[in-house]
Amino acid sequence: MINQPRNIVDMLEILETKDPATYAHSIRVSEIALQIALEMGMEDQHVLRNISVAALLHDIGKVFVPDEILFKKGGLNVAEFKVMKKHVAMGKIITSQLDDFEIRMIVFQHHEAFDGSGYPMRLKADEICIGAKICATADAFDVIRFGRHYREARSAEQTVAEIERCSGTKFAPDVVVALNRCATKIEKILARNNFHAKNVIAKIRDEMS
Ligand SMILES: [Fe+2]
Ligand SMILES: [Fe+2]
Repeated sequence: MINQPRNIVDMLEILETKDPATYAHSIRVSEIALQIALEMGMEDQHVLRNISVAALLHDIGKVFVPDEILFKKGGLNVAEFKVMKKHVAMGKIITSQLDDFEIRMIVFQHHEAFDGSGYPMRLKADEICIGAKICATADAFDVIRFGRHYREARSAEQTVAEIERCSGTKFAPDVVVALNRCATKIEKILARNNFHAKNVIAKIRDEMS
C-alpha cells in the first residue's frame, strides 16, 4: 500500500501537463525497471511497487527546470546542464512528502553511475541502492531506444549493445545481465503499449476513491 496516493497522482499530473514527453518516458521507464527487477528475482510486492512508483517519479524534479532549458533543441551548455542536474535534488524534495524512503532514494540516485562518475553524490557500486541502479539502466534504455528532441532513436539491438558497452562503468553489471535476458520481452511490451505502470496509476487512483 502506498501512502499519500493523492500526492503521487498530483505529481504525475503536474509532470504530464508541463512535459508530456517526460511523462510518457516515465511510464516506459517504470515498465522497463519492473521487468528488470522481476528478471533479477525480486518478488517482494512492496519493493516492486516502490521501484515502479520511483521510476514513474524519477524525473519529477524537471517540473522546476525552466522551459528554455528543459525543451532546448541541441545540447545544453555547462551552466544549463548544472541547472538540469538539479532535477534529482528537486525530485528528492518533492517525493519527501511520501513515506517510502526507498522511493526518495531511487529518485535522488537515478543519475549515479556504477563507477562513481555520476551525480549528484558521485556514489559508486554498492553505495547506490539497487532500485536506483535498475532505474538508471531503464532510463538509459528508454532514452537510447526512443531518442529525444536532441538525439535519434536506435534499434532494440543497438540499445542493448550500447548499454552492454557501459556495463561496469555507467551501469551495474548484474542489472545489465538481467536487462539482456528480458530485452525481447521488454520490446514486446513496449510495442503493445500496454504498460503495468498504467495499472499502477489506475490502482493509485482507486486507492484515492
Ligand atoms: Fe533524470
Ligand atoms: Fe529519465
